[in-house]
Amino acid sequence: MPIIYYENNKIFHLYNEQMSYVMQIVKDNYLAHLYYGKRIDLIEGEFELELRERVAFSPTPDISDLTFSLDHLPQEYPGFGTSDFRTPAFEITDNGGDFVADFRVVDYKIFSGKTPLTGLPGVIGANEELTSLEIVMEDALTKVQVVLSYTIFNHLSVLSRSTKFVNNGINPITLRKVASFSFDLPTSDFDFIHLYGGWGKERHIERTKLINGIQAVESKRGVSSHQHNPFIALAAPDCTEDSGHVYGASLVYSGSFKGLVEVDQFETARVMMGINDFQFSWKLTPGATFQSPECILVFSDQGLGKMSRTYHDLYRNHLVKSTFKDKERPVLINNWEATYFDFTSEKLVEIAKAGKKLGMEQFVLDDGWFGKRDNDDSSLGDWFVDERKIPEGMKALSEEITNLGIGFGLWVEPEMVSPNSELYQKHPDWCVHIQNRPRTEARQQLVLDLSRTEVQDYIIGFMDKLLSENKINYVKWDMNRPLTEMGSACLASEQKGELQHRYVLGLYRVLDTITKKHPHVLFESCSGGGGRFDPGMFQYMPQAWTSDDSDAVERLKIQYGTSLVYPLIFMGAHVSDVPNHQVFRSPLMKMRGDVAYFGNLGYEIDLTAIDDETALAIEQQVTYYKEIRHILHHGDFYRIVNPFTTDACAWMMVSKNQNKAVLGYYQPLVKPNAQIVKMMCKGLEPKATYLVKETNKQYKGSYLMEVGLVIPTIKGDYNSYIFTLKQV
Ligand code: DGJ
Repeated sequence: MPIIYYENNKIFHLYNEQMSYVMQIVKDNYLAHLYYGKRIDLIEGEFELELRERVAFSPTPDISDLTFSLDHLPQEYPGFGTSDFRTPAFEITDNGGDFVADFRVVDYKIFSGKTPLTGLPGVIGANEELTSLEIVMEDALTKVQVVLSYTIFNHLSVLSRSTKFVNNGINPITLRKVASFSFDLPTSDFDFIHLYGGWGKERHIERTKLINGIQAVESKRGVSSHQHNPFIALAAPDCTEDSGHVYGASLVYSGSFKGLVEVDQFETARVMMGINDFQFSWKLTPGATFQSPECILVFSDQGLGKMSRTYHDLYRNHLVKSTFKDKERPVLINNWEATYFDFTSEKLVEIAKAGKKLGMEQFVLDDGWFGKRDNDDSSLGDWFVDERKIPEGMKALSEEITNLGIGFGLWVEPEMVSPNSELYQKHPDWCVHIQNRPRTEARQQLVLDLSRTEVQDYIIGFMDKLLSENKINYVKWDMNRPLTEMGSACLASEQKGELQHRYVLGLYRVLDTITKKHPHVLFESCSGGGGRFDPGMFQYMPQAWTSDDSDAVERLKIQYGTSLVYPLIFMGAHVSDVPNHQVFRSPLMKMRGDVAYFGNLGYEIDLTAIDDETALAIEQQVTYYKEIRHILHHGDFYRIVNPFTTDACAWMMVSKNQNKAVLGYYQPLVKPNAQIVKMMCKGLEPKATYLVKETNKQYKGSYLMEVGLVIPTIKGDYNSYIFTLKQV
C-alpha cells in the first residue's frame, strides 16, 4: 500500500514513484507536516523534525516544555488561539461564542479506494488505483471532530484532500471557516502563480515572488468567477516549463473560494485553499457533519509542463462522469454571433444545412428561443418555445435539424429568472434576495435561490421535460451573473452565512440528477464564457465555453493560461466572424482556425452569408480537424512559446504513443528583418523519424527537439503555422 504508518515514531508516509508526503503525530498528539515533494525513502520511518529553540513571544501550551509552541510547528490542519498566530485552516465558535478549538489526533484509518464526498464533486478511480488515509482529530472540550482525508493515486503525482467536521458533542457549534487542506512548507523561496482575469480575458497567468505576509486569490461572487480561477501554485524560482519543482492546488468547487499563502516571521510558507470564509458560517447541530470540497494537489519536479499534464490526465480520466468522457467532441455551429436574438426557424435550418454541408456535426441554438425574448430584458424562467420565431415548435424543429444528419443542441440558463417573466410573477420570492432590500439586477436578471429544494425540483422538472420531449443531444448551460444580496427567504437568521454554499450544493444536486437522467446528452457549461470554468462543473459537464472572447489573438493567452490546469478537450474554441465582435480585430481565417483547433472546434458565423472562398476554407479546416482531433483530445500538451512574455505563442500536442503530433505557431504582428525562428519541439521520441506533412520533410525526434523546426518567414499580421508530424 502506498501509505505506511510507522508505529515507532508515529509517522505517516504517503508515496508513489513520483512523490512523498510525510506527517507525524508529535507531542500531545498534534499533527505536524514534515515533508511534501519528490519521492523519498525512510529508514524505519526515521525523519528529523527540527524544532526551534525557545522563541520569544511564541507562547507554549505546555508549561513543562518551554520550547514547544504551535507558532513554529509545521502543521497539517492548524487552528487558532492556542499559540499559533498564523492563518488558521478553520474557525469555529462553540455554544458560548468562544473561538478556541484545540484538535488532537485520536484515530486514523488506511484503506484502498476513496470515500465519496456526499453532495460534492470529487475525483474518482477504481479501488486498486487509489489509497486513502483518514486522520481523525478531536477537540476534547466540545467533542467536535475533524476528519482529514488524503487520497493518493498509485501512478500519478496527485494527492486529493478534503476535511469533514462532525459534531459529536451535545451543543451546536458554528463553523466560520473550513479550508479543504493546509500544509506548512519549510521555506518561502517560491513564486506564487495564479490565473486571474475578467470577462473576455479569463485565466491569464500571473507569477510573482512570494513576499512576507499574506497573498491570496479569491472569489466572493457565489461562483468560481472570471476574475480568479480556483487554482494556485508555488514554483521554485528556477522552475520553468520543463524543469524545477512546483506544487499546484486546484479546488473542485464552483462557488466562492479562497486560496492563500502566508509567509511568516520564520520565512516558512503556509498554503491553504477552500470555500471562501468571507461571510461564511455554518451551524452544525449535534450529530451533524459538514463536508468541505476537495482540493487536488499535484507535485511536479519537471516544471509547469509536467504539472499541467498531470492535471490533464487526472481530470480527463478521473473527474468527468459523463458518458462523453473519452469521446471525441463534435465540430459545432452555434447561431449566437450569427443572429443573436433575431432569427426564424427557417434561418436556423439554413444555418444547420450549411454547417452540415461543410462537415459540421452539431448545431446549437443559442439564446432567444423561449418566452418573448427579443433581447436580454425578459423571459428567463419561461422555458416554453417562442412561437413567433419557431411556429412549428421545438419538437418539430429539433427533429427537422436532426434529420439533416447534424445533432440539435439547445442553450438554457436554468439558474436565472427575469423580473419580466411569468415565472417571476408567480414566484417573486424564488430569487436570491434579502427581504425589504432592493434586488440588484445584472443583465436585467436575478438568480434563482438554488438553496431551496422546490427551486431545484422546478429546474430538474423543466429540463427533464425539454430533454424528454424534444430531439436534443447537446445542452449549453449558461449562467450570466454573479450573486448579490446573498439571502434566502428560507434560511433562519443564524443560517444566513450558509446561502452561498447551499446554492452550490443545490446546483450540484440539479446537475447530478439531470445529467444522470439524460446520459446521451453532451452538456457544455458556460458562464458568460469562462466565469465558472472549474473542476466542480467538469464532473457533470465534460466541456465548457472557454471565453466569450473569440478573437484569435486574445484566445492565445486565454487558452495558454487555461491549459495550466485544464485539458484541451474541456475548452470550447470557436472560429468567429471578423471584425471580431468583442475586440473588433480581424485575424486571418487561417489564424482563427489554427487557434481554435487547440480546443473543441466550433463556428459562430452566419454560414448562409459567407462567400465561396470562406466556405472552402471552413470546409478544409473541419476536414483537417477531424483528422487530428484524436491527438488534440487525448494527447500530451506542451507549451513552447509563452504569449505572456513574448510577442508570439507556440504549443504542441503529442499523441500518448508519440506517433503523431500537431504544433501551432502564432505571430500576431509581423516584424521586419526578424530573427529566424526555430521551434524546439517537445515530447517526441528522440530516435524516431517524423514526417512533417506541410513541408514533406523528415527529421529525427532528437533533431526536432534540439535543433528545432524552422518556421518560414511570416508575411503579414495575424498569421500562424500548423505542422502535423507523423512517425514513419
Ligand atoms: C453568454 C455566453 O457566453 C454566450 O456564448 C451566449 O450564449 C450568451 N450568453 C447568450 O445570452
